[in-house]
Order: sequence, then structure tokens, then C-alpha cells
Amino acid sequence: MKKKVSKPEKPLKGSIVVPSDKSISHRAVIFASLAKGRSIIKNFSNGKDPVSSLDVCRALGVDAFWENDLIIKSSGNLKNPSVPLDCGNSGTTMRLMAGILSGQKFDSELFGDESLSKRPMKRIIEPLSLMGADILSLNGHAPLKICGKNLHSIDYHSKLASAQVKSCILLAGLNADGVTSFTEPYLSRNHTEILLKYMGADIQSFNNTVKIKKSELNPCVITVPGDISSAAYFIVAGLIVPDSDIILKNVGLNPTRTGIIDVVKLMGGDIQILDCHEASGEIVGDIRVKYSDLKACTIEKDIIPRLIDELPVIAVLATQADGQTVIKDASDLRNKESDRIKAVVTELSKIGADIKETGDGFVINGKNTLKGGCCVESYHDHRLAMSLFVSGLVSSAPVVIDGFEWVNISFPEFEKLFDDIL
Ligand code: S3P
Repeated sequence: MKKKVSKPEKPLKGSIVVPSDKSISHRAVIFASLAKGRSIIKNFSNGKDPVSSLDVCRALGVDAFWENDLIIKSSGNLKNPSVPLDCGNSGTTMRLMAGILSGQKFDSELFGDESLSKRPMKRIIEPLSLMGADILSLNGHAPLKICGKNLHSIDYHSKLASAQVKSCILLAGLNADGVTSFTEPYLSRNHTEILLKYMGADIQSFNNTVKIKKSELNPCVITVPGDISSAAYFIVAGLIVPDSDIILKNVGLNPTRTGIIDVVKLMGGDIQILDCHEASGEIVGDIRVKYSDLKACTIEKDIIPRLIDELPVIAVLATQADGQTVIKDASDLRNKESDRIKAVVTELSKIGADIKETGDGFVINGKNTLKGGCCVESYHDHRLAMSLFVSGLVSSAPVVIDGFEWVNISFPEFEKLFDDIL
């Protein structure tokens, strides 16, 4: 599907409720499937990725149905699936499920779409194998054929700061003998740690290390907050469309996810947090953002995992900031739903941005008027499609995005919510 975006005639004004967090929705449905009894998930995401996790849990014998909220009824034991398990486009589904399935009493197979089949799985196969897992892959890629084994604990030091790898190992550790310990170079999102603790697991974090012991999970009520990664497109749009002033409600503000807020402040953007509260162990609040004069900055090191999914739209933001913005230490962006470094540079260059590719990020010179007047590609990548949409809001001539339907992976309400503030 092609989507044409033009410069709005008026500033962006009003407030929107940000839809459900994708990362927490995955964890909510997967962890509730491991807990014996009835769990209730409020505000579960309708994005295709979390629905892949829901479908995989159903294929493993879990009863899931809607009563306004999503209800999960589980015996606490997964059943041998009669079919290979389809993870769709979702790396989180595949990597988290691999951790769980490696320690089951049955064999299973995980597969995904073309993009997921190209993404690296050695990062989970290696540590899982050290725990005694038996996984056959296509040279480190899906499909993954998992032969269920009794797992034992490890003390693993990961070279990558990846919440998917960390979660995979913690979930394997939940069902392994001994104390499993995972250390990462920088702290990645910690939703797994928060939710496992909330559900009664024996888990403890100190700095960048998490330790988990074999535990049973309790069924519970989980309220999923809004997704800051989805809010990011509105934050950037509000900052760069002249005279805008918008409020984003019910946004998850876990500090391991709020790197974009820190960057906006560093760039001189007018962003305020209003009204914080807690829900199922996570911090939630409202964000107000106004059009601002922005200056360039350097984004690197430990902040990278705290804004990894926002980097494509931060690149758009940087085109509207005075000076040279440098983004580095983000080479894992090449392993996302697309090679996001190459894709962002290629497509934003077509629109008229002054942006260069480096091995581990971008260099962007701003502030420059984007000329637009071209057709760009989504690379079958939801975050690219939405970032290019935002760039169209400040381009002189309209931008047409090919493959816009990929936004449904995380944010099916994207266009409607933009219409509400346009
Ligand atoms: C996710 C973690 C991040 C992120 C992805 C979702 C998660 O990936 O990019 O969109 O839910 O754990 P990595 O942990 O591989 O960096």
C-alpha cells in the first residue's frame, strides 16, 4: 500500500492516547501462559507482532480469549504443538520462545517470515547450548528445530546489550537447575525482570547483571502501558512541525526505554513529563511536547539500548536540528527488521537529507529543508515506514511511502491517531 504524506497546513494540536507497548504485550502473554491459572491482560497490543506471540501460545495449548481484556487460562504446562510455530515478523516471539521451548519435555520448531529468517539467532543459540539446549538452525538462522532437554544454569557475559537475548536466557533459567546469571555491557530494557518479579519469580538485578532461579509464576492481572516507541513518532512530529503542541497520554516511562526523552532535552527540545503513576511494576505518564529550535548532539554508548528502536525517527529529528548529529555504537541496527542504517540513509537521502552512513550509525548535518517530491520504500519495516511518514510532514513537496501497511506490525492505529491531531 502506498501512502502520500504532505506538509500539514496547521500546527499539530491536541492529545492522543498512545497504544499498547509491544515489548510488554509479548511478555505479558508469554509469561501468563507459563502461570497455572487465569491471568488478565489489560490493554494488550493489537499489533501483528504481539499477536504472533499470542498465536504461538495458543498453539502450545494455552486457552486465550477476549472478555474486553485478554484472558489467558493455562495449566502451567505447555503442550507439545502439532505444527511448527509461526513467529511471523517478530524477533521477540522467536527469541523468547526459544528460551522457553529449549527446556520443555517435547521437541518444537520455530519459523518466521523472510525478514525474520535473515536475522541472527546465534546470539541465543550459543548461550542456550551452554545451558544444555539442543537447537538445529540454518547456519544461525531460523527455522529453529528445538529438541527439548533438561537445562542447567550458566553465568553468561554477553557482548551485546540485547533485551531479547537477556530475556531468552532468563526464561531458560526459569526452568533450569541452579542460579542463572546474565551480564550485559549496558543495561537493555528490563521489562522481563520487572514482570517476572511481579509474577513471583526468584529474580534479582544488580547494575547490568540479573540472576534467576527455577521458579513457578503466579497468574495475575497485567496492565500494559502505552508504547514510548510508538509515541516517538508523535514526539518528533510535535518538535519539528512549526507551532505544534501535543499531549501523549499513558506512555510507559521505564528508564530503560526513555533515551529519546533525554536526547530531546539534550537537543533543547521542549518536552515535559506530566502525571506519573505505576502499573504492574512499570512507570506510566503523560508527555507534552512543543515545537522547538533544536541543536545537534552526539548519541552513543549506554544510551543506545535505551532508544534503539527510535533511532530511525531520531535521524529525521536530526535533519531539523542545527549542526552535526553523530549517532554511533548502534551497529546492531543492521540486524533489525531491515538494515536500518542503510535503509534510513538511502531513503532520507532521496527526500533531501544530508546524512551519511557509518559502520555503526549515521552522521547528519542539519538543519536542512527536505525537498520531498519522491517515492520512498519501507523495506517491509514498520519503523522505517513511520519515520518516513514523519519526514513527509516537514518536506516541501509530498512524500509517497511504498509498503506503508507494514506499520501494522506494531501500530495499526498510526494513521488514525495522526489524523486526530492534524
Ligand atoms: C525488544 C528488544 C530490542 C528491540 C525490539 C524489541 C524486546 O531488541 O529492538 O524491537 O521486546 O525485547 P534487542 O534486544 O535485540 O536489541
